[in-house]
Amino acid sequence: MSAAGTGPLSSGSPEPGKVRDMFGGIARRYDLMNTVMTAGMHHRWRRLGVEAAGLSWGGRALDVCCGTGDFAFALHDAVGPSGSVTGIDFSRRMLAVAQRKAERSGRQVDFQWGDATALDFPDDSFDAATVGFGIRNIPDIGGAFREMARVVRPGGRVVCLEITQPERQPFNFFYSLWFDRLVPVVGRLISRDGGAYSYLPSSVKRFPPAPRLAGMMQEAGLTGVSYRLLAGGIIALHTGTA
Ligand SMILES: C[S@@+](CC[C@H](N)C(=O)[O-])C[C@H]1O[C@@H](n2cnc3c(N)ncnc32)[C@H](O)[C@@H]1O
Repeated sequence: MSAAGTGPLSSGSPEPGKVRDMFGGIARRYDLMNTVMTAGMHHRWRRLGVEAAGLSWGGRALDVCCGTGDFAFALHDAVGPSGSVTGIDFSRRMLAVAQRKAERSGRQVDFQWGDATALDFPDDSFDAATVGFGIRNIPDIGGAFREMARVVRPGGRVVCLEITQPERQPFNFFYSLWFDRLVPVVGRLISRDGGAYSYLPSSVKRFPPAPRLAGMMQEAGLTGVSYRLLAGGIIALHTGTA
């Protein structure tokens, strides 16, 4: 497994090659970890993200940093079989898990290798683009939002779901207990990769707070940017219009 807990992953900006190796190493256990760490709430958060995307039946959606595909599957349920959903990720192992899940569930999602900061799609290709728990891992956050804004048609939505640091007590106390102490231990037990789950709290700590992230979306050319906090302020759901 990668040296995920050392070097550039434990401090400073995430290094894309190491991030890719780390997610590749935990791909098979990623879904189980998500469910354990969020007590199953992650599905509800993605459903709220899909609602924020404002898609209709037959719509075209892109999920960036799709990982094992859960956000893309939720988008598929919103656009139906007459719509289209593309999921991109730069970890082939995460994509392989997503592809297997698509085959097992019979849901048609086009999973492709791709880099969030250089999307291989023409302008205005989609009605909405989402990113779930992915933007935190990208050094050039503004670049990723600019790309999402570019490939979404004017008037379509860009949605970002991400872990954030709660500002209010007692949430920040429990958050710190859970993230700093328990997540690395539980992560080591389930994924057998303590480094990956030590990376998680540090990546959240250096991530911009929700108001700043909204500003970055605006700077990327999105309008009407707004956000709501979920789960006591631990999760931020940002929406902007291309
Ligand atoms: C925490 S997982 C999130 C997966 C999924 N979106 C979800 O909701 O569970 C983050 C994913 O982002 C991917 N990723 C990180 N940086 C990327 C980049 N620059 N381009 C494409 N994928 C990237 C990783 O490979 C990983 O699969």
